[in-house]
Amino acid sequence: VDAILSALEACAPSRSQARLEAELKAFLGVDHLFFVSSGKAALALTLQTLHTLRRVRRVLIPAYTCFSVPAAVIRAGLEPVLVDVDPATFDFEQSSLTRALDHRDVLCVIPTHLFGCRSDVSRVRALARPNVFLVEDAAQAFGLTDGSGKRLGSIGDAGVFSFGRGKHLTCGHAGMFVTSSPAIARAFANSCSPLPPAGFAPSLRAWAELVLMSVFIDPRLYWFPSALPFLGLGETVYDPDFRMTRLPSTATGALRRWLRRLERTHRERALTSDAWTRELGLASPGGRQGVPLLRFPLLTSSAEERTALLDLARRQGLGVSAMYPSAVHRIPELRDRFRGQRYPGAELLAARLVTLPTHRYVRELDRQAFRHARARIAGVPSRSAPQPVEASC
Ligand SMILES: Cc1ncc(COP(=O)(O)O)c(C=O)c1O
Repeated sequence: VDAILSALEACAPSRSQARLEAELKAFLGVDHLFFVSSGKAALALTLQTLHTLRRVRRVLIPAYTCFSVPAAVIRAGLEPVLVDVDPATFDFEQSSLTRALDHRDVLCVIPTHLFGCRSDVSRVRALARPNVFLVEDAAQAFGLTDGSGKRLGSIGDAGVFSFGRGKHLTCGHAGMFVTSSPAIARAFANSCSPLPPAGFAPSLRAWAELVLMSVFIDPRLYWFPSALPFLGLGETVYDPDFRMTRLPSTATGALRRWLRRLERTHRERALTSDAWTRELGLASPGGRQGVPLLRFPLLTSSAEERTALLDLARRQGLGVSAMYPSAVHRIPELRDRFRGQRYPGAELLAARLVTLPTHRYVRELDRQAFRHARARIAGVPSRSAPQPVEASC
């Protein structure tokens, strides 16, 4: 019934889109909001926009993040500058950040709330020159708040969000840009004006994918969509040549009753995140309980332990993932650009991080199976001396 109602609503996209925009602006506490086809499109357009306001090219991004982020910087024709990541917080490493900000030609910094762990935006503001823009990457943190109750994504000069697969709120493929700066909003509207409409076929495809994924998200059925190569599940690709269009008309319908869905998913993910913290005997992330992490990050003691753990968890269908296949400077297409540079924190995450699911299908039995797998693997011989580190975002 929900799918039929959503499809009907998608037939009147402009009215429902205006209503959705108003609701989201009020929720996030921002003055301006634009939808586009994906989070990476929102990011690339944001960077293009900021470049029209200040003609410098350096964009500071985490050395460990989603490959869409460097792809968006390259797509915008700008220069990605990597800042190392602190493996205990997933936020920028202080000395690397200070060094990168020392350059005069920094256009903007992209603090990233990875997995829903907050990046300290005010620290970047305090360290950066006043003319440097701050663009929060809140793709993995929709609806989450900072210590003072402000929504992540609304704290910097602008914020970008993704409504893609596996996010807190999804409609298949879509992205969003927000700002409270009238000048940035005007410039962003100009950058968006040449965007083509999404087109019927991609909208239909996004809709079909969404239906498929909502039916098969249960881990016991997930083998089916993951065997369909055109869905590309679990793949992380670097591709600056992505499509940038307006929002597919089906997306507005698929975001119907978004607040109710979001509250529910936040409740479920917070419970599962807290259960992982408790049962794995870790300190709660950032000393805070009740945070609805998108994935629960866990550092293994060694690369060997991680490989063994992933292998065992995969055979049991536990939805454990290594996340990104490498640090950004090791992406084959970017390797030459960063030759000779070192980012130890990002390298460590790329070698030893696993992330655990927090969605509602994670049952106590799954968590128990993971704990057993972890205990079994703990005896795996390791070349590097194992030094367990607890992730505390
Ligand atoms: C941190 C981060 N930034 C940007 C993006 C890009 O969003 P999209 O997949 O909607 O293009 C993603 C997507 O997973 C992400 O995780």
